[in-house]
Amino acid sequence: MKTVILYSTRHGATKKCAELLKFKIFGSEVVDIKEQPGFDIEPYDAVILGGSVQAGTVKRELKKFCEENRKMLFQKKLGLFVCCMYEGDKAQTQIQMNFSAELYESAVATDYFGGIFDFSTLNFFERFIVKAVAKVKENQFNIKEDRITKFAEKFK
Ligand SMILES: Cc1cc2nc3c(=O)[nH]c(=O)nc-3n(C[C@H](O)[C@H](O)[C@H](O)COP(=O)(O)O)c2cc1C
Repeated sequence: MKTVILYSTRHGATKKCAELLKFKIFGSEVVDIKEQPGFDIEPYDAVILGGSVQAGTVKRELKKFCEENRKMLFQKKLGLFVCCMYEGDKAQTQIQMNFSAELYESAVATDYFGGIFDFSTLNFFERFIVKAVAKVKENQFNIKEDRITKFAEKFK
């Protein structure tokens, strides 16, 4: 099955997750939507979309890609994931809020993979938000490899 993992990242955690997922889904390819906004999914049997959540939302380029490829995405085996620091119901809600109900319903696997707070990658405003809202003052690495493994198993 020809599979592509398309992701959109702000600070690199979603890229890391996409690459970890690639190793678990034999023969899959990884593509940054920002670098290839017009990427053609037609030749693929399966598509996985991944986005980085900031202030509750994934990047515009991922939303745009979903809108532009809406019809074709329904014809594919579909997986959806987000990178975020919320967990449980809050994280699940963020997946549902960032993809259309139709896409969410048609996906065979959906999950959140955790994320990273790395202050060296954040601008002044982002540092302020993380300290003030999330009350986090030190770097945190919270990528959940177990969830990535389970997602890959479910997807296959
Ligand atoms: C300014 C800022 C706002 C964030 N807002 C949220 C949020 O609303 N919900 C959440 O679960 N995580 C939030 N996060 C955590 C990010 O989802 C996490 O850092 C993730 O690893 C980002 O992925 P990326 O490195 O691929 O951009 C926020 C992080 C930053 C820096």
